[in-house]
Amino acid sequence: MRRRAAGGTAAFALALAAMAQPSIAEDLVERGRYLTAAGGCISCHTADEDGAAPFAGGRALASDFGTFFGPNITPDRDTGIGAWSEADFLRAVLEGRSPSGAAYFPAFPYPSYAGLTEDDARAIYAYLRTLPAVRRENLEHKLPWHVSRVGARIWQALYFSPTGFQRDPARSETWNRGAYLVRHLGHCGECHTPRNRLGAPEASRELSGNPQGPENRRIPNITPHDPDGIGGWSADEVVAFLEYGMLPDGDFAGAGMGEVIDENTGKLTAADREAIAAYLLALPAVPDIKGSPDG
Ligand code: HEC
Ligand code: HEC
Repeated sequence: MRRRAAGGTAAFALALAAMAQPSIAEDLVERGRYLTAAGGCISCHTADEDGAAPFAGGRALASDFGTFFGPNITPDRDTGIGAWSEADFLRAVLEGRSPSGAAYFPAFPYPSYAGLTEDDARAIYAYLRTLPAVRRENLEHKLPWHVSRVGARIWQALYFSPTGFQRDPARSETWNRGAYLVRHLGHCGECHTPRNRLGAPEASRELSGNPQGPENRRIPNITPHDPDGIGGWSADEVVAFLEYGMLPDGDFAGAGMGEVIDENTGKLTAADREAIAAYLLALPAVPDIKGSPDG
């Protein structure tokens, strides 16, 4: 009788464990799905063609340093990252290094992602592992002769010193969450922060607009400067913009930002959008760079 009861309990515990195991894994994948959206990974890693397989690569990214093509990050073993270990993935996203040790070009915004927590990077990896493996060969970047992997390594030595996310204990939880989303996962500065001649962001002008942004577009100032930035916007107006793309004057966001809203900020929780707005509106107000061609 006793034995039976003990056996029953053990079987019950085993059944519980079997049920708990996949749900822990599912939680991780769900968290990864959310973080992958907040990281905007799909945009650069999906070709700009009708019916293109998500995350299978092929998007052309024009820049001052040539045209880069987002690679395939589905779990296909030959053309994607199916043969990678989790450590390979963490090294790529947090350190900008390929499994063979080569330096990635900063067209891949790892300088921003380097501030992700390892837990968040692992969740993203877990989610990407659940995607269908799509066979699609990577396209070779079209780069001028002076842009090379060796150059990328030198660039890293000059400009890339990952320190992880710097929490500011003097600020609120909301501000810190906003800082994490804006500076790291959401990599807003990759478009909105001006860069020096070697493509390194100018820290003192964080988010103050980029006269020569991606696709050679002028990217607006999103510091609270009035009138150059968003100093005249209320927090609610920033939140509504991040959700629907509507500007305070009733107009809608155009090229570039429209995709960020569809694929990224529009998919966040209300609390995360509020955190982004709180962070932006607490930035130092920086005026536009004067003397730029159209500024
Ligand atoms: C702004 C465009 C852009 C965004 C956003 C982006 N990537 Fe990439 N990614 C690239 C480019 C370009 C490369 C290739 C870099 C190179 O060849 O040096 C790359 C390379 C990679 C690689 C290495 C693949 C390989 O075959 O070596 C991984 C892994 C990766 N990205 C994951 C991610 C994840 C995860 C996210 C979201 C958190 C993301 N990327 C967001 C542009 C982007
Ligand atoms: C791929 C480049 C890119 C990224 C990444 C990006 N933006 Fe933008 N953003 C733009 C462009 C381009 C515009 C101007 C759109 C237009 O002309 O309607 C813009 C406009 C805006 C505006 C409106 C400013 C104004 O005065 O009209 C806000 C606010 C904004 N972005 C916030 C963000 C935040 C927050 C993030 C990060 C979560 C972000 N952006 C990431 C390209 C980008």
